[in-house]
Amino acid sequence: ELGNHRHFMHKEIFDQPQAVIDTLQGRITDKEVITEAFGFQAAELFDQIKQVQIVACGTSYHAGLVAKYWLEDIIRLPCQVEVASEYRYRNPVLQDHTLVVSLSQSGETADTLAALQLIKQRAQQLDFKHIASLCICNVAESSLTRESDMTFLTHAGPEIGVASTKAFTTQLVALALLMMVLGKRHKTLSVKREAAIVAGLKKLPGLIQNALTHEAAIQQLANSFADKHNALFLGRGTMYPIALEGALKLKEISYIHAEAYPAGELKHGPLALVDEMIPVVAIAPHDDLLEKLKSNLQEVNARGGQMIVFEDEASNIQSDGSFKVLKTTSNVGRITAPITFNIPLQLLAYHVALIRGTDVDQPRNLAKSVTVE
Ligand code: M6R
Repeated sequence: ELGNHRHFMHKEIFDQPQAVIDTLQGRITDKEVITEAFGFQAAELFDQIKQVQIVACGTSYHAGLVAKYWLEDIIRLPCQVEVASEYRYRNPVLQDHTLVVSLSQSGETADTLAALQLIKQRAQQLDFKHIASLCICNVAESSLTRESDMTFLTHAGPEIGVASTKAFTTQLVALALLMMVLGKRHKTLSVKREAAIVAGLKKLPGLIQNALTHEAAIQQLANSFADKHNALFLGRGTMYPIALEGALKLKEISYIHAEAYPAGELKHGPLALVDEMIPVVAIAPHDDLLEKLKSNLQEVNARGGQMIVFEDEASNIQSDGSFKVLKTTSNVGRITAPITFNIPLQLLAYHVALIRGTDVDQPRNLAKSVTVE
């Protein structure tokens, strides 16, 4: 099953272009997203909702955070995202007219399932008539799909490595499609914008493929992490959840302590960590926030942090030699950017783990599916 790959994680990283193709298959036309991809009840259920509540854990939670930026910015639909283990125990306020989206690779995560069950139970007690549940999941016959009104299957194929890679990528594809369907139903997405996003999604397998060709350069960069104890990941906008995901991957499989921050928060604390011993990974697409990010990065550089910047062809960050810049993609769009920029971070974590000789597919203390609290 591994083919030429040493580990499942490596195989699954390289499966991603195909996983995206398979997840889009039958869900879009040339210019449009197909509403029924979310089930025959989707139009009716989506029309009744006024907000979205996402519940998930770990990497799936990070996918939810990206979706919040998309839903609120592009289609102006309020969206809350919460780690399921917090949601279920904090006595949250549930409002009617909410679409509850559970995100899960396995469909068996105990906290995510319990959060969904809690919402359904509350909705019944409060006699809410317009709570709809959608599960975005990679396993067809799972506990979460059984509990949900609608299911959208990510067609990532089996994910064996404990560190989630292709499941995350396909969850983001699913969430982009969801955003478009909701925007169509609520008339907040123009035909033109929809066609542009569909065109971007069609380019995605190629963009991922291209990002994967930078593996050798990323492997080089990984050397500078081998003897480190800490790392910092920075991004702004949708790149902030991607930074969180990059840090989680590094923690899980290389056992290096990594933290992610929105770059604008640097001065509010984490800048104190920066010295010559800390690698700082920054994600720098050419977008509206690039100039802001650049000034954040100057602060890091001035304090001697070992900065590594992932950029696209248009970002054009000039290094004076004191830090490294790697162009891992062409100029990417609002939806394709977070998905594409995540790829080098997966490869980075993988190669750091290889150098450190850890068990990549079965990291210590972790299980693939967390079916107990
Ligand atoms: O199966 P799920 O997506 O519900 O799993 C959620 C988390 O346990 C999972 O994403 C975990 O964080 C991964 N090991 C991350 O790589």
